[in-house]
Amino acid sequence: MASVSHLALPRIWPRRRANVLAHPAEPGQKGEMNTPFRNHPLRLRRSLLSVPASNARALEKSATLACDGIIFDLEDSVAPESKAAAREALKQHFAGLDRASPVERIIRINSPSGSDGPADLEAVLACGPNAVLLPKVCEPQDVLAVADWLADQGVDDSPRLWAMIETPAAMLNLAAIAEAGRTSGGRLDCLVVGLNDLRLATGIADVPGRPFLVPLLMQVVVAARASGLDVIDSVHNGFADIGAFGAECEQGRQMGFDGKMLIHPAQIEPANRSYGIQDGAADEARAIVSAFARPENAGKGAVNLDGRMVERLHLDQAERLLAKVELIAKKENRT
Ligand code: COA
Ligand code: MG
Repeated sequence: MASVSHLALPRIWPRRRANVLAHPAEPGQKGEMNTPFRNHPLRLRRSLLSVPASNARALEKSATLACDGIIFDLEDSVAPESKAAAREALKQHFAGLDRASPVERIIRINSPSGSDGPADLEAVLACGPNAVLLPKVCEPQDVLAVADWLADQGVDDSPRLWAMIETPAAMLNLAAIAEAGRTSGGRLDCLVVGLNDLRLATGIADVPGRPFLVPLLMQVVVAARASGLDVIDSVHNGFADIGAFGAECEQGRQMGFDGKMLIHPAQIEPANRSYGIQDGAADEARAIVSAFARPENAGKGAVNLDGRMVERLHLDQAERLLAKVELIAKKENRT
């Protein structure tokens, strides 16, 4: 394994890159449009549980839970004096994992340019997670420098990179950060909102309904979509109040998020429900697919479905929803 003990992530503009989709659509395929729909294959990301890597019981328990992804945390939930032991625990944990599991594994590292960064990146190489979650991203080079470093280590397309959006600077640079998902070699797949840090840095109040945060959350959703990225809503600290948590999941889903970052196992089931398939949605999607499959509708861009117009863009949406239905069924049959 390459040594990262002298890792330096220079604060300079990274290599010149082509501004293209990381996984461009072939002509005629889905995704071939001016604004990318998504630039990577569909993954279930309804529920992403954060697990402090320093907590042995939580690590052990995480392998038994029904979340779609696990964010193994080396950053804020781990005390400075426990960082080294947490990295070792994580290496051991990954060595024993079932690699065929559909659960996505993400490691949240400390700032790559801080004192724990090199050792965290070394742990990433040893563990081989699906993605690395970068904390407190402020500008595009925070993502691109790590992408370049991974490429220099000869690491192929995986791990991918995810970015925490949790600083005022990230809010101002959102479009440019998200664009790292459109550059070849940028590796960026997903933005994750971190409201605890954002509230701390801005002074925005933590009140039910998140009225002053909604405008910021919507900007993150739009920036992510403009670059074909997935986007995950922030943690909700009150894990004992499942009613309030469920309401926040519903709000996030309506805003366009793909799922929610979680802090406690009790939040998994409500998040899976909110970000899963809504009542009647699968039937509706099947009706749209069969409407376009009828011979009389061949070649039509818009059709009449029981007195409503549906267009081919709705067909794309319906097919994506049915693919999600299938992924959920596959996961449930496995567990
Ligand atoms: N991952 C896995 N298991 C967890 C867990 C987590 N994030 N949080 C709690 N559990 C487990 C506990 O180990 C306990 O297991 P057991 O009863 O089977 O032994 C069970 O769930 C119930 O836990 P509970 O007693 O209700 O909570 P707690 O007091 O142990 O922990 C927190 C509460 C908030 C400290 C804890 O949930 C936590 O550390 N969450 C993650 C924090 C984090 O990652 N922050 C960074 C992102 S913002
Ligand atoms: Mg944070």
